[in-house]
Amino acid sequence: MARIGVIGAGYVGLTTAACFAHLGHRVVCADVDAGKVAALRRAEVTAHEPRLAELVADGVHDGSLEFVLGNGPALSDVDFVFLCVPTPTAEDGAADLSAVEAVLAEAELTDCVLVVKSTVPPGTSDRIARSQPVPVVANPEFLREGHAVDDFLRPQRIVVGGEEEPARRVVALYPNAPALVTDRASAELVKYASNCFLAMKLSYVNSLAELCEEAGADIEDVTEGMRLDERIGSAFLRPGPGWGGSCFPKDTKALLSTSDEKHVDFSLLRATIDTNERQAHRVVDKVRAAVGALRGKRIGLLGLTFKAGTDDLRDSPALAVADLLAREGAVLAGYDPCVDHDAGPVRVTDSPAAAARGAAALVVLTEWPEFAELDWPALAAGMACPVIVDTRNLLPADKVTESGFQLVALGR
Ligand code: UDX
Repeated sequence: MARIGVIGAGYVGLTTAACFAHLGHRVVCADVDAGKVAALRRAEVTAHEPRLAELVADGVHDGSLEFVLGNGPALSDVDFVFLCVPTPTAEDGAADLSAVEAVLAEAELTDCVLVVKSTVPPGTSDRIARSQPVPVVANPEFLREGHAVDDFLRPQRIVVGGEEEPARRVVALYPNAPALVTDRASAELVKYASNCFLAMKLSYVNSLAELCEEAGADIEDVTEGMRLDERIGSAFLRPGPGWGGSCFPKDTKALLSTSDEKHVDFSLLRATIDTNERQAHRVVDKVRAAVGALRGKRIGLLGLTFKAGTDDLRDSPALAVADLLAREGAVLAGYDPCVDHDAGPVRVTDSPAAAARGAAALVVLTEWPEFAELDWPALAAGMACPVIVDTRNLLPADKVTESGFQLVALGR
C-alpha cells in the first residue's frame, strides 16, 4: 500500500484517484474547484463514466479516498504525487501548460516521487525535474472516455519515463500489465505518438471512403479486407464525420506545434488534421446534395456527442457539422441519449421522432447503437422528405430504404 496524492479531479485525475483507492492505496485528491471538492466529499460524481461513481463512493466511505481543496501544498505525507491537470490547446496550437506551472509554483514537494500524468510535450518532465527537489517521472495515461475505469484496472500497457528506481516504484502501483520504462521524453511522446497515429488512421479511412464513392467501391468491404491483415489491425477503421473529443484534436495540434518548433517537417500530421477539418464540410456537402439549398430547411441530427458511450460534447464532430449547417441557414433539431440541453445551434429534443418531425433530412452523427433500431416507417411519415445521411454507416440499409427513405452513407 502506498500513500498517493493526485492533483486535479478531472476525468483522468478522478479515475486515477478512485482506482488507486480501489487497489488498496491511500489516496488524497486535490482540486482548486471548491464546488467539485464539496460534491466529491459527498461522493457525488457527475462524470458519465461506468463504475466511477461506485468506486468514489467506496473510497469515500471506507476512508481510503479523500478530497482536499487546493493545488498541492494540501498534500503532505504522500509517497507519490500524480499531476493530472489539463493541458488544453493554446491559441498557437501548442499545449497550454499554465495549469501545470501553477501547481509547480505552489508545490512544496519533499520525500515523494512526482508523476507527470498530464499530457505534456516531450522535454517538459525533464524541465520539471530540473526545478523540483524530488525524482520526476513521466507516466502518460491511455484512458478512453466511457471505458476509463476498465482501462485503468486492466491496462494494455504501463509506460513510465525516468530514472529506473522511481519508475519501477510507479509501475508497481498499477495492476499487472506489460510495462515499459524509458527516458522521460520518450514516455511523453508515446502518448502523442499513439493518439496521432490513431487519428491518422481515421483521416486515412475517411479519405479512402471519399475515393470509394468516386471509384464505385464500398468502404465497408475495403476496410474488411484490410482488417484481415494483422499488420494493419482491425480497430480504428470506421469512417465517420471526423474524429473529435478531448484528446485527438488537442494532441494532434500539440505534436504538430512541437514538430514545427523543432523544425521537423511532419506534413503527415498536418494532412491528418486538415483532412479531418474537411470531413465536416464533406458531410454538409452530402446533405446539400440530397435536399438542395439549406436556407430555412429543417434538419434533424441524431447524436451530438463526439462518440457513443459518453455525454462529452467537447470538440464533437457532430457540433462542427451542426455549425456548418447553421451557417448555411438550416434550422436544427437534435436528439442524443446523453444530452438534455441545447448545444450551439441545435435545439435538443427528447426523441429521434421529435428531431425528425418536419425535417427535410436526418443526419446520423454519433454511433449510438439504438439508432440502428428505430421505427423507420414512423420516422419517415413525420418528415417533410425522408432522407437520411448516415455518417457512421450504422443503419440497416435494407430496412431503412424499404421504409421509403433515401439513404446516403459514407464511402459506398
Ligand atoms: C482517445 C484514445 O483512444 C485514448 O487512448 C486516449 O487516452 C484519449 O483519446 P477518446 O478521446 O475517449 O480516447 O476517444 P476514442 O474512442 O479514441 O475516439 C476518438 C474519435 O475517433 C471519436 O470521435 C470517434 O468517434 C472516432 N472514431 C473512432 C471513428 O470515427 N472511427 C473509429 O473507427 C474509431
